[in-house]
Amino acid sequence: MDRLAVMTWLLPVAWLAGCAAPAGLEPSGATCPPDSPLTYSNFGAPFMTSYCVQCHASTLSENQRQGAPLFHDFDTLEGIVAVWQHVDETTAAGPLRVNTLMPPSDPRPGLAERTSLGEWLACGLPP
Ligand code: HEC
Repeated sequence: MDRLAVMTWLLPVAWLAGCAAPAGLEPSGATCPPDSPLTYSNFGAPFMTSYCVQCHASTLSENQRQGAPLFHDFDTLEGIVAVWQHVDETTAAGPLRVNTLMPPSDPRPGLAERTSLGEWLACGLPP
């Protein structure tokens, strides 16, 4: 399946799972500079491994997720692509906002890492 097909399939699932934008969540406003060096390999995967996958992974059963919603799995690129706006709205920094809802406990990323996350998402999550 290509990425668009994955999104077409996953987005309604994510919506049904209750991922309609919760009150108070807003986009960071991050944009993509033409020379962005960020990729899934050099940024996205290590970021998610450091800060997210202990609760948000497809390998975790419901009672291992510490309350993290089903279908918000960040151990694959496809899992991030499916809900990337929500990742921005909970975790990324940009010119409009610094979003710090996620992760809910330490270890937490610093501002520079949140800014890089916004950039990588705004660039379309290059692999
Ligand atoms: C310690 C466990 C834990 C970690 C680590 C964690 N989360 Fe979560 N996440 C949760 C819980 C619990 C919820 C549900 C919160 C709620 O509904 O208020 C959640 C919800 C979410 C949502 C859904 C918000 C929505 O309703 O659309 C997103 C997106 C998300 N997390 C992204 C992330 C990202 C990105 C990271 C890493 C930077 C991360 N989370 C790290 C526990 C965690």
